[in-house]
Amino acid sequence: MAFVSFFEVFLALLCFLFLYCFRNKHGPPMCFPIIGMMPELLLNVHRIYDWHTETLERCHCTFLFKGPWFAKMNAVVTCDPANVHYIMTCNFSNFPKGPEFKQKLDILGDGIFNSDLDLWKNQRTATHGFMRNPQFHKFLLKTTRDKVEKGLIRVLDHVADRGLMVDLEDVFQRFMFDSTCILFVGYDPRCLSVEFPEVRFSKALDEAQEAIFYRHVWPQSFLKLQRLLNIGQEKKYKKAWEVLDDTIATNISRRRKELKEGSVSEVGEDGVDLITSYITEEKSTGLECDDKFLRDTILNMMLAGRDTTSSALTWFMWLVSKHPTVENKIIEELESKIPAEETGKRRLFNADEVKDLVYLRGALCEALRLYPPVPFQHKEPLKPDMLPSGHPVGPNMRILFNLYSMGRMKWIWGEDCSEFKPERWINKQGGVKREPSYKFLSFNAGPRTCLGKGVAFYQMKTVASAIIYNYRIHVSKETPVVPTLSIILHTNNGLKTRISSRWD
Ligand code: HEM
Ligand SMILES: *[C@@H]1O[C@H](CO)[C@@H](O)[C@H](O)[C@H]1NC(C)=O
Ligand SMILES: *[C@@H]1O[C@H](CO)[C@@H](O)[C@H](O)[C@H]1NC(C)=O
Repeated sequence: MAFVSFFEVFLALLCFLFLYCFRNKHGPPMCFPIIGMMPELLLNVHRIYDWHTETLERCHCTFLFKGPWFAKMNAVVTCDPANVHYIMTCNFSNFPKGPEFKQKLDILGDGIFNSDLDLWKNQRTATHGFMRNPQFHKFLLKTTRDKVEKGLIRVLDHVADRGLMVDLEDVFQRFMFDSTCILFVGYDPRCLSVEFPEVRFSKALDEAQEAIFYRHVWPQSFLKLQRLLNIGQEKKYKKAWEVLDDTIATNISRRRKELKEGSVSEVGEDGVDLITSYITEEKSTGLECDDKFLRDTILNMMLAGRDTTSSALTWFMWLVSKHPTVENKIIEELESKIPAEETGKRRLFNADEVKDLVYLRGALCEALRLYPPVPFQHKEPLKPDMLPSGHPVGPNMRILFNLYSMGRMKWIWGEDCSEFKPERWINKQGGVKREPSYKFLSFNAGPRTCLGKGVAFYQMKTVASAIIYNYRIHVSKETPVVPTLSIILHTNNGLKTRISSRWD
């Protein structure tokens, strides 16, 4: 035993020294025969975001990653806005996500996230139609207000009164999970409550995301072996899939039954959820809403809405807690929106009041720039093409955008790129300063731009204003806040905080 561990340590040390001495200090990672750049990837996989950022910085924003022979892992990794613009907009049709992506995310079925071409277009039209509907907008406002009042505030008061430590990321996940469930399946699971109940659906979704990340890192053959032996990440993935299928099926059949019995109305006075809208308008929209279609749509929308927004809120609150001047400016801006006699006491902000908060919006954009909730994007060219950076690409080759690195490149954002500066998003007249989407890629660019950007900003501003105006948050110094390895940029250990009320 002792020999083995000594030998292993020795070997690891040797590899490390070797790589350290011979690593390419000016260009892309060191490339070996047969195994390609795998050694450096494996040494750095635990810190892949920073490793990519350092490498991209050295290689002027684009490098070719070479995987082992026959592993089909070769990829152009880029964070160059010119490449992004070209791929996402100018020559969009040559750059689908590709069949391999669909296969890696097969849990999503034929949903909007992993589909291409006609399948994607149909999904997009349907989702867009639903989200543009004034009934949905009405429903969004009511749902968000209710969740803040009856969920968020109650939980925060509970932990503040008792001086408990709370994981804010978990709170945001629960907030978003309840909200998205209500919006898309019309059912409130009430997981944002002082009991902090375990939620099977959420846990399964987390595990699936992690497994999907590793599907992008390990060679196919290794994954196949895991599947065959039913071990490791692939085993978790399979189990998660069953849980998700099961819970969604319950919701669909419940809704179908309720609609048949007439126990819920088709268009309530508060607006309408997605399943109800799809089922009742099946005839007029021509969409075929069988259970499989609904299942895929719901799962995709749950992923789109829950994780991205809660990740954004988590990094935002963490950054604000480290920057008291920003916090004060947000409070000042909020106070400027309310009548003088209403200041100095507990208050929530409604849709009209959060609409034009330029500074708060800037702070949110900064968090999204430094910690983009979707840190990677993936494309597979149909035909050979040349990128603006001069890199040739072709079929059987992946293109990986690294959004995390994009926010940290000096020549894109300036020397102060790694600082949290909401002022970056405010123009000389004090209005909103917009950046092109191929530079600020957090919501994607071109025809596949995020459909929920407006929804997300509304939800984030409502939650952020409720918390910052009414509470002080003290992030625990013991647990480091670092990004986890997943397809969504969550934190590794949560955001452990103590909370106290501003108004006593
Ligand atoms: C801060 C919050 C959010 C961020 C950062 C974000 C980011 C993104 C990104 C990067 C994509 C492109 C993904 C890809 O193509 O691989 C995307 C797509 C999408 N997002 Fe969001 N999103 C957010 C919130 C939301 C919300 C709340 C909803 C729905 C209510 C939503 C709905 C969608 C949909 C439907 C798509 C698919 C668009 C398409 O492929 O055509 N998003 N989002
Ligand atoms: C776009 O992609 C096609 C291949 O589908 C290629 O032939 C063409 O040169 C590309 N460039 C532009 C600017 O359209
Ligand atoms: C569906 O319903 C169950 C409870 O019946 C709930 O726990 C689950 O999370 C719901 N949501 C979704 C999206 O399936």
